[in-house]
Amino acid sequence: MFESLTRVPPDPILGVSAAFQKDSSDSKVDLGVGVYKDEAGKTPVPRAVRRAEQDLIAAQTTKAYLSPVGNPGFNAQVAALAFGADLAGRKADLSLAQAPGGSGALHLGAQFLNAARPGSIAYVSDPTWANHIPLLGAAGLKVEKYPYYDNATNGVAFDRMVSFLDALPADSVVVLHACCHNPTGQDLDVAQWQTIAEVLAKRRLLPFLDMAYQGLGEDLDRDAASIRLLAKTVPELLVAVSCSKNFGVYRERTGLLAVLSANAEQASIHVGQLGRIARTLWSMPPDHGAAVVDRVLATPELRQEWVAELTHMANRINSLRSLLAEKLTATTGQDFGWIKGQRGMFSRLPLRAEQVVALREQHHIYMAPDGRINIAGVSPANCAHVADSVAAVMRS
Ligand SMILES: Cc1ncc(COP(=O)(O)O)c(C=O)c1O
Repeated sequence: MFESLTRVPPDPILGVSAAFQKDSSDSKVDLGVGVYKDEAGKTPVPRAVRRAEQDLIAAQTTKAYLSPVGNPGFNAQVAALAFGADLAGRKADLSLAQAPGGSGALHLGAQFLNAARPGSIAYVSDPTWANHIPLLGAAGLKVEKYPYYDNATNGVAFDRMVSFLDALPADSVVVLHACCHNPTGQDLDVAQWQTIAEVLAKRRLLPFLDMAYQGLGEDLDRDAASIRLLAKTVPELLVAVSCSKNFGVYRERTGLLAVLSANAEQASIHVGQLGRIARTLWSMPPDHGAAVVDRVLATPELRQEWVAELTHMANRINSLRSLLAEKLTATTGQDFGWIKGQRGMFSRLPLRAEQVVALREQHHIYMAPDGRINIAGVSPANCAHVADSVAAVMRS
């Protein structure tokens, strides 16, 4: 019976990691996989998270089931991080469900949308995180793209984006990166978010925000400005939050889906729907990561320590952006200043597929096939080698 199944092609990004591991060169550089790396090239567990884990193990007396929508303390804390302490003035309209990572939250949200309106079309940015399309599609949504990135300017193709959204039929779902766009690092500014919010409200489009990097762009509040602005402008929206990167709990699968409904009566129905759908997917979300995040956020001393660690990560990424932009501008003779204005872990270098292969095979520099680089993989020690190598392949 299983013979009908065909071989799944290797994941291009995981393939980059595997090739990097096999490379024995001393000068190899991994700019591929999307995890934060510190000065030593490691992906650490933040100190505040480690301390919360130790406290939790000492204090936890049961591992009995919680509920299909998870840990209420975690849900409330993470919703307040995203929507602000006043929950954008819409507390009664919010339904919250803990989910296994941002991916679980995206899939739960897509199932919720498909239950509300089967066969809905979700529009994702062109380009977007590669997993958006299969994750949303597996829940039954049709997935299409809206214009987002302008390869000619390495900025947002804002006019094209607005005109496209302004022509969509009502109830279309628009997936937006709340901050730190993956793969380009190119975010909308506040004035652009305001325009997008007005178009979404006018056309009655449904925003589905993906927040996977809160605090890794500017800071916790400025990175969430998009969510807070939209929550004040449109009646309904969804937010999928991932705690993987900003709390360093990647493998603990820790995320939240927030559904903002038109009114409190609707919200009381929607939270039950989220629980019902979760029962059919994972029944109950995994506890550990959420219990740890709840403890970090609810304990003032741990929270302060975590914010300081997160601030260090964001500052480090932003200073590496400046360093790389300057070095690339010097070695290529082209203006790479746009890298400085981008935010989050990623930027996309304007390289053809064969140039990406040449960087790997001739210079031991590994990146995603579309030229996406993880800025946290750059360091003061390897930056000159990266910039010289990129210049060499761009000349060839
Ligand atoms: C844009 C975006 N959304 C969602 C996720 C999902 O994160 P998680 O590992 O929490 O499922 C990622 C992870 O890389 C991401 O880049």
